[in-house]
Amino acid sequence: MAYDVIIIGSGPGGYVCAIRCAQLGLKTACVEGRDTLGGTCLNVGCIPSKALLHATHMLHEAEHNFAAMGLKGKSPTVDWPQMQKYKDDVVAQNTKGIEFLFKKNKIDWIKGWATIPGPGKVKVGDTLHEAKTIVIATGSQVASLPGVEVDEKTVVSSTGALKLGKIPKTLTVIGAGVIGLEMGSVYARLGVEVTVIEYLDAITPGMDGEVQKSFKRLLEKQGMKFIMGAAVQGVTTAKSRAKTTYKLRKDDSTHEIDSDIVLLATGRVPYTDGLGLESLNIATSKRGQIETDSHWATNIPSIYAIGDAIAGPMLAHKAEDEGMAVAEVIAGKHGHVNYGVIPGVIYTHPEVANVGVTEEQLKEAGHAYKVGKFSFMGNGRAKANFAGDGFVKLLADKTTDRILGAHIIGPMAGDLIHEICVAMEFGASAQDLALTCHAHPTYSEAVREAALACGDGAIHS
Ligand code: NAI
Repeated sequence: MAYDVIIIGSGPGGYVCAIRCAQLGLKTACVEGRDTLGGTCLNVGCIPSKALLHATHMLHEAEHNFAAMGLKGKSPTVDWPQMQKYKDDVVAQNTKGIEFLFKKNKIDWIKGWATIPGPGKVKVGDTLHEAKTIVIATGSQVASLPGVEVDEKTVVSSTGALKLGKIPKTLTVIGAGVIGLEMGSVYARLGVEVTVIEYLDAITPGMDGEVQKSFKRLLEKQGMKFIMGAAVQGVTTAKSRAKTTYKLRKDDSTHEIDSDIVLLATGRVPYTDGLGLESLNIATSKRGQIETDSHWATNIPSIYAIGDAIAGPMLAHKAEDEGMAVAEVIAGKHGHVNYGVIPGVIYTHPEVANVGVTEEQLKEAGHAYKVGKFSFMGNGRAKANFAGDGFVKLLADKTTDRILGAHIIGPMAGDLIHEICVAMEFGASAQDLALTCHAHPTYSEAVREAALACGDGAIHS
């Protein structure tokens, strides 16, 4: 069968691209080798981890806040197989949803793993398919760390961490990035002794410094332990236990820590195995990312690439935006992604969210800026919900007042960030936000207060 477009990979980049291509009238197919659509994000990433984060957050609320709100009585106990089932059901609903959308939009799902024998050709199994255009949306896989062998039982990646056979007593997490802190939070809330080993001196590299400090302090309050400035040298396993060896950077001393489970969360790398990129001579960077021009075309003009397989933050929504934009380009329209306004969210409690530049970046660039900060302690709704930890920090140009970035740690930060994203897309000033009526009592008032703090001052601080 000859197609206008064949997309390889059905993650958030690939499936969104397929739907938009079909909506634009292109005959579209999507190749996916997993049993279900949705890629890493839906099957073994964003969605299942959010289910476990939600369930364990409910437990945390019941254990820590219910009594104070006058809710007394039987406290919940954890039925781990049921929690796993709940998570699996959520995943199944989502992956079936994509299947439904494919049918609705008349997108063919070609089942199997694809190779690209040449421009315009996609081979799956023994069948050769033809397409005017190919989009590579094959995503990423766990980066390996020398001396650490993932067996998905005792030494796990995020995939194994989502389906441990039983709740361990102790967990060592290698890497204080997004995956380490989200999955570490899940298990800490289940009563597991969680120790995070991080190479750098701060958690979540690249994030605003004040948020990093506050975030670490709040996670420590929840029981997570951190060993900072430590490079993991290797992990050995024996009798279902793991020994992690690490070296402290400050004095080169070597230490060991024993645990039931080790989670390797030191980053991800593009997944392009088996596509045949080398024989096609498709250019890749040293980090294995497929090189593309500003319209996501590789050095072969009819082959495009998007998402985790190319440069930029490895985020589902960045891949989705690229998927929609590249579909527009293929259909002869104008596709655009504003890489300066891509939010990042960590779904711990409190949540952490950011968009735009950090204060550190502004300082380094010598950019004159002002800061508007507001603590959730001054927000009535947050106080009522025992969610007063955290703050909103808004960065604006000192002269023009234009919003340059925002950093939120606090309740629903991942949702609150979006009014700032919209404001930034419209080139708004902090005053524009400050003059916008925000309903009372909502968490979003903290965003407005931070905007007011960029001007004549917040009201409730
Ligand atoms: P990451 O890049 O976020 O963090 C990895 C951490 O490991 C870094 O802090 C790094 O300094 C540390 N590290 C590296 N080598 C080390 C060593 N030998 N010893 C100790 N520490 C070491 O990577 P992560 O958490 O694995 O996430 C992978 C990707 O998935 C990221 O790009 C992330 O953005 C994405 N992701 C996003 C989510 C979200 O948006 N909520 C959720 C999960 C993943």
